[in-house]
Amino acid sequence: MLGTHANSHLKEDIRDYWSRRSETFDLAFGHRIPDGPEFDAWAAAIRERLGPAPRRVLELACGTGEVTRLLLSLGHEVTALDFSEAMLAVARRKHAGARGLRFLLADAENPMEPDESYDAIVCRHLVWTLTAPERAFSEWYRLLKPGGTLLFFDGDWAAPTRLGRLASRAIAAIDRIVGADPHYDGAMSDRHAGIMQRLPFGDGLTAGRVLPLLEAAGFRDMAVGSHAPIAAAQRRTADLRNRLRTLLYRRFILVASRPPAPAAPS
Ligand SMILES: C[S@@+](CC[C@H](N)C(=O)[O-])C[C@H]1O[C@@H](n2cnc3c(N)ncnc32)[C@H](O)[C@@H]1O
Repeated sequence: MLGTHANSHLKEDIRDYWSRRSETFDLAFGHRIPDGPEFDAWAAAIRERLGPAPRRVLELACGTGEVTRLLLSLGHEVTALDFSEAMLAVARRKHAGARGLRFLLADAENPMEPDESYDAIVCRHLVWTLTAPERAFSEWYRLLKPGGTLLFFDGDWAAPTRLGRLASRAIAAIDRIVGADPHYDGAMSDRHAGIMQRLPFGDGLTAGRVLPLLEAAGFRDMAVGSHAPIAAAQRRTADLRNRLRTLLYRRFILVASRPPAPAAPS
């Protein structure tokens, strides 16, 4: 685990990185969730794993509030947390007047919410950037009610798959012809790489690495699902360069439960 001093510097760098991207984040492919097949695919992935609404959901690292939009559309009561004021400002604007939604400026690794206060914790693209994953998972376990669900969407962003390497060459060729996409993550890639190399999962986040940590935190009934239906839905409306981007990295969906409380002896 990283030392506290190094950790706080790293967190500030991470927060600053995302804050600078907040106003254009929704313009980068893969972040905004357009209405239509992609929205439906994400919603189905959540509905399948969280069960019927409404549930009390803590959404960690809500960013610009795209997953928030999905959770609200499914009827959940949402606390949407992020540690970047700039990201939260975009999300607040997007969801002005929404019912059943509360925003929280806090650290997802230490949200300081009461014990056993949520039915579900949901996050997309947060786990890879945790600075102290073991501690964060224990916190998340504490916040869930017995029987509650942790659901996250993430991927191994450290190295493209074999097919991804081919796709990446094709994307580079398109960039040379039409110009690079200024909003895609690569636009700040030196800073991104500088942060990645200091993260516990900076050399790659896989389900195989994360499952034992979740188990050690107390989670059970873990299941790893495929991101393929969402990627297929993205390809239905994306242009060629973005279709290729859906092939770059290995992504996964992970669900885990806090075990239900044991029945009281009769
Ligand atoms: C890749 S973006 C994902 C945003 C959103 N989950 C989505 O999928 O659209 C990462 C977000 O995580 C937030 N973040 C990263 N580390 C965090 C932490 N320790 N606590 C709270 N937010 C964090 C950043 O501020 C940023 O908004």
